[in-house]
Amino acid sequence: MSVKDGFTWHPFDIEFGVKTSGLIAGRNLKCGSQADRHNTAYFGVAPSVFHELVAQWRRSKPAGTIDEFTFIDLGAGMGRALLLASEFPFRKVIGVELNPKLAQIARRNVASWKARGLAVTPIRVICGDAVEFKIPTGPCVAFMFNPFGAPVMRRLLSAWGKSMAGREGQLDILYINHEQELVLRRHPDLVRMFAGKVMRSPADAIADHKILANQPDGEYAVTNWEDCSIYRWMGKASSQK
Ligand SMILES: C[S@@+](CC[C@H](N)C(=O)[O-])C[C@H]1O[C@@H](n2cnc3c(N)ncnc32)[C@H](O)[C@@H]1O
Repeated sequence: MSVKDGFTWHPFDIEFGVKTSGLIAGRNLKCGSQADRHNTAYFGVAPSVFHELVAQWRRSKPAGTIDEFTFIDLGAGMGRALLLASEFPFRKVIGVELNPKLAQIARRNVASWKARGLAVTPIRVICGDAVEFKIPTGPCVAFMFNPFGAPVMRRLLSAWGKSMAGREGQLDILYINHEQELVLRRHPDLVRMFAGKVMRSPADAIADHKILANQPDGEYAVTNWEDCSIYRWMGKASSQK
C-alpha cells in the first residue's frame, strides 16, 4: 500500500489533527481477501457531501429519531465518515474496513478525535469484509462511499436478503458516488428515496481536485459533485420498524 498516490493534505485533517487525506488505488490495498479485486480505492469523503446527504436522509422521514439509528460505514477507510457521523447523536457509529492498515489508521484517528472531545457518540472500527458483517438489530443507516464493484455489492445484498428475515428495525442505505446503483435499483426489497447530484463545497472541490491532480497516471476522476442515492429496505422485516 502506498499513501504517496496523489498525496496532499485535505483541510479537514489540518483543522482536526487527523490523517484521512490522499488517494490509494484499489490495486494497492490488497490484503489477501477474495474481495480485494473489487476494491475501488481509498479516498476520504468530502465533508460537505457527507453533511448534505445526511440532511437529505433526515428529510426522507426515517422511522425514528437519529438517536435510535446505528450508523455503519461499509468501507470505512481511514475513518473520515466515522468522525463526521460521530458529531451527530446516532446511537452508535461502526466502521467496517477490509484493509488492516487502513483500519489501524482509522482507530488512531478515532482516538485523537475522541481525545479532542469531538465525538458525541461511541465509535467502533472492525477490520473485515463488509459482506460478512452482520447488520445489528434496530434501525440502521448503512453508508457507502463507492467502496467496491458490482460482484461484492451483489454478495452484500444477497447476505442481507437472508439476514433481514425476522430482523427488527429500518435499514436505510446512503450511497455516495453510486457506481453500482443499478444493483440496488434492481433489488426487489429496496425502494429509492432519493437520487441526485450532491455538490462539493468550494473548499472540498479545491482540495479533492488537488489530490486527484497528483495521481501518477490520472486513473481516477473528480467532479464538483457526487452522484448519490438513498435506499430503504422495504422487505417484510423492515416494514415492522
Ligand atoms: C472510497 S473509500 C471510503 C472511505 C470512507 N468511507 C470515507 O467515506 O471517508 C472505500 C473504502 O472501502 C474499503 N473496502 C473496499 N472493499 C471492501 C469490503 N469488501 N469490505 C470492507 N471495506 C472495503 C476500501 O479499502 C476503502 O478504504
